[in-house]
Amino acid sequence: PLHQTTYLKNGELVAWKGKTDEVYSTISSTKEYKPTLLGTVPHMDKEAALDVLQSACDAYARGQGQWPTMKEAERIKCMENFVAQMKTKREEVVKYLMWEIGKNLPDSQKEFDRTVEYIEDTIEDYKQLDRDSSKFSKRDGVNAHIRRGPLGVVLCLGPYNYPLNETFALLIPAIIMGNTVVFKPAKHGVLLLSPLLEAFRSSFPKGVVNVIYGRGREVAAPIMATGKIDVLALIGNSTSAIALQDQHPYKNRLRLVLGLEAKNPAIILPDADLDLAIEECISGTLSFNGQRCTALKIVYVHEDIREEFNKRYAKKVDSLKFGNPWEEGVKLTPLPEPGKPQYIKELIDDALEKGARIINEKGGEISDNYIYPAVLYPVTKEMRVYKEEQFGPVVPVKPFKDIQEILDEMADSNYGQQVSLFGKDIQEIAPLIDTLVNLVCRVNLNSSCQRGPDVFPFTGRKDSAVGTLSVHDALRSFSIRTFVASKDN
Ligand code: G3H
Repeated sequence: PLHQTTYLKNGELVAWKGKTDEVYSTISSTKEYKPTLLGTVPHMDKEAALDVLQSACDAYARGQGQWPTMKEAERIKCMENFVAQMKTKREEVVKYLMWEIGKNLPDSQKEFDRTVEYIEDTIEDYKQLDRDSSKFSKRDGVNAHIRRGPLGVVLCLGPYNYPLNETFALLIPAIIMGNTVVFKPAKHGVLLLSPLLEAFRSSFPKGVVNVIYGRGREVAAPIMATGKIDVLALIGNSTSAIALQDQHPYKNRLRLVLGLEAKNPAIILPDADLDLAIEECISGTLSFNGQRCTALKIVYVHEDIREEFNKRYAKKVDSLKFGNPWEEGVKLTPLPEPGKPQYIKELIDDALEKGARIINEKGGEISDNYIYPAVLYPVTKEMRVYKEEQFGPVVPVKPFKDIQEILDEMADSNYGQQVSLFGKDIQEIAPLIDTLVNLVCRVNLNSSCQRGPDVFPFTGRKDSAVGTLSVHDALRSFSIRTFVASKDN
């Protein structure tokens, strides 16, 4: 097991002497099911967390030439140094991605590589940003030197489904823009950051990057309650986001960068290429067992083709291989959250009681750490699986006659991230696309929903997001335009 006995504060890996939390994998290493102990991490308390916060505040307040005012080229050097060290840790991090969150090998490798690419692209965009935004401007005798500056101290929390990539999608732009950060790794996916702590420590000046461990309400909430956090950057659920915002005594001055829930629909029109639609819906609904904010979480299929679609889609779901993440060809893996199979089962039972059927043979088979994806049909608005963001392996399929039904439901929804639209005659459906894009933020034509490529804006309407991520947008989300003005004499 990996025992994380230190935490990062003020440029030092400080020994933790207090209580610890055990980290388990829901993947069993024995024949009889038993979660595997992977290691331990500090169970920090309020006092320790506030001490860490102080180090970030001090680093932000430090004088000339220090991180917030440091020359861009020097900041870039620090980030390049970090990414070079990070690259040497690929194997270790990938191993923990598989054990801690059950992500299969190709997707774990992709998460690592995509994160490296994200950092490298961020560095390039940052160079460009500096060229573009460091400008002299003159109007009515006033000269202004406009530039982009940091916002202050950032509290950053990432999710368990992308504990590396999405944590870094917040962390990296926040750091490079000159902010100082305190970050708390996700509960599942906490150990995989351990191999990178030394790289953070040695690449950045003291206090710029600080790490806390422990329960959100015991460490993150007290940090917010000090009022010293300028930006709350969180990818996860809105309950945690709201709870943390509520702790802040001066909410109006808190900047938010939030990536939250979604219930992205797939819409299968009567003229859709069914092979393509089924292929895309399989990956859209079930890659990483549906545990993606961008996953397709409801499929609307037109009455005219529903029989054919249901039969072929259900068969394809049953062909997906379940196993341990490192096994060849495995698509479905154990779920990292211990109570998740039972939660998914509740959703299924509720739908069955209200008139839906499981239309695939293996659907709903349950074990200690897994439930085989159930395809539910016909789903209605009264069912929990229609309303809740399942974030797991269950697929609600709802028939429709008139597209307006779906538009009304989407307008009523609390979410507004993306939609997938499957149809052949793009010219014909162009007005529909225009309508859809005003209900969500990305329309995927004949393809499943996804966040990447990471250079594109990633955001959502309503409860799905606050602020925009992407290599380009994130640099702006974590900064503010400032300027020095002088008058012609
Ligand atoms: O959980 C939400 C992620 O941003 C999804 O990213 O579409 O690349 O899997 P992805």
